[in-house]
Amino acid sequence: MAVSLANVGYKVLGVDTNLNILAAINEAKPHFHEVGLEPLLRYELAEGRFRAANELREAADVYIIAVGTPVTDKGEPILDSLRHAAEMVGRVLKRNEIVMIRSTVPVGSTREFILPILERESGLSGGRDFQIVFAPERTIEGRALQELRTLPQIIGGIDDYSEEMAVRVFNRLAPNTVRVNGLEAAEMVKLVNNSFRDVSFAFANELALICDAWGLDAFKVVEAANSGYPRNPVPLPSPGVGGICMAKDPFIYVSAGRAKGYEPILPIYGRQINTCMVDHVAGKVSDFFSRHHLSPAGRKVLVMGFAFKGEPETSDIRKSVTLDLLPLLKQMGAEVWGYDPAANVEEIAALGVNTVDRYSLETGFQNADAVLVMNNHSSYNRIDLFQLLSRLNRPGLFFDGWHMFSKHEVERIQGIEYIGISGAL
Ligand SMILES: NC(=O)c1ccc[n+]([C@@H]2O[C@H](COP(=O)([O-])OP(=O)(O)OC[C@H]3O[C@@H](n4cnc5c(N)ncnc54)[C@H](O)[C@@H]3O)[C@@H](O)[C@H]2O)c1
Repeated sequence: MAVSLANVGYKVLGVDTNLNILAAINEAKPHFHEVGLEPLLRYELAEGRFRAANELREAADVYIIAVGTPVTDKGEPILDSLRHAAEMVGRVLKRNEIVMIRSTVPVGSTREFILPILERESGLSGGRDFQIVFAPERTIEGRALQELRTLPQIIGGIDDYSEEMAVRVFNRLAPNTVRVNGLEAAEMVKLVNNSFRDVSFAFANELALICDAWGLDAFKVVEAANSGYPRNPVPLPSPGVGGICMAKDPFIYVSAGRAKGYEPILPIYGRQINTCMVDHVAGKVSDFFSRHHLSPAGRKVLVMGFAFKGEPETSDIRKSVTLDLLPLLKQMGAEVWGYDPAANVEEIAALGVNTVDRYSLETGFQNADAVLVMNNHSSYNRIDLFQLLSRLNRPGLFFDGWHMFSKHEVERIQGIEYIGISGAL
């Protein structure tokens, strides 16, 4: 966001309290993978339109707050970073400047939580002295630079003038802005986008559990259901739905209902289904070993895919399904090896697994008893799977969490069993 705004001509100061992240950014080394970001960051640093600091000491015309808004284990939103950031902005805020909230927040937070902090710290009044809008971040990780310039920007303000000002700021960057007349509507739009997505994935995943009980391939069922049928496309199932946003946003959406005395049902059940898929995956692994009268203890298991998704590619492993799978594999006593085409190898090693990179994939497959494909990275289609699978111990398990490969083709290698999320053995 910061370098994209710099790239359309704004003079941008990026503020982050994490000194390691700051140091990396100032060396033009982003701490996450995003297509095109590194050269753009390098260019904007060199041009002097973008710089980064750990404190906000000077006034600006526009302030954008995009700090993290995690939830507790019970799904309750934690707004500490938001409070600190609002205090920081409030201390330098002047008349006729605009504050934009970009973090995903519980409905009502901009008006009831952030605005009072800004007013207290600045001594000014929102709407009268300064402008404030909520304009959610809706880009997908891995394609953020592209989507910042193509997705419509949702804008809800404390008043018309705030919205008009925000539209003018965003017009240089994005082709469309959608004004929703009010802070709360814009906050809700963001929560709707991710919560609907999570619930629809839950439908597909529950379908996979039902299909599995019937020995049916849910991927084929979904493809047939969608084929030429113009209503309600059903998403494909998966080994679970992870990622920093999907793991929390449905709970923040639920908090909007609870704040007004309504107890939402669907997003809670959706989360339950999407998080229990990992037990289904672990069950497939232990079932494979018990069917062959083998103990999983000491067996070598290679997990492919630590980033929470493969497409579009990201290095982000936060809240990925694989992180939930690791303790289950370790509980079985398995010796876990890990590979990811985009995630940082040291980050994977820090999880207590043996790591391989794309140059040493053979080592990961060599004498493995099971290989589990846990995200849908497109590069898996380009590896020489047959040569690699031939290195496995027999019987060997190839678990294809995204049904990227053909059961028929894989099982041409004698002694290798192909297992997906659902389907006949
Ligand atoms: N990651 C995404 O692609 C994405 C997409 C849509 C929406 N969002 C939303 O955007 C928000 C941020 O997400 P993220 O993934 O970038 O989170 P993050 O935790 O990776 O990044 C937040 C950054 O804010 C910094 N920070 C914390 N307190 C600060 C303060 N007081 N002042 C300055 N910096 C501070 C942290 O050091 C961190 O680097 C969340 O609300 C998230 O839901 C993220």
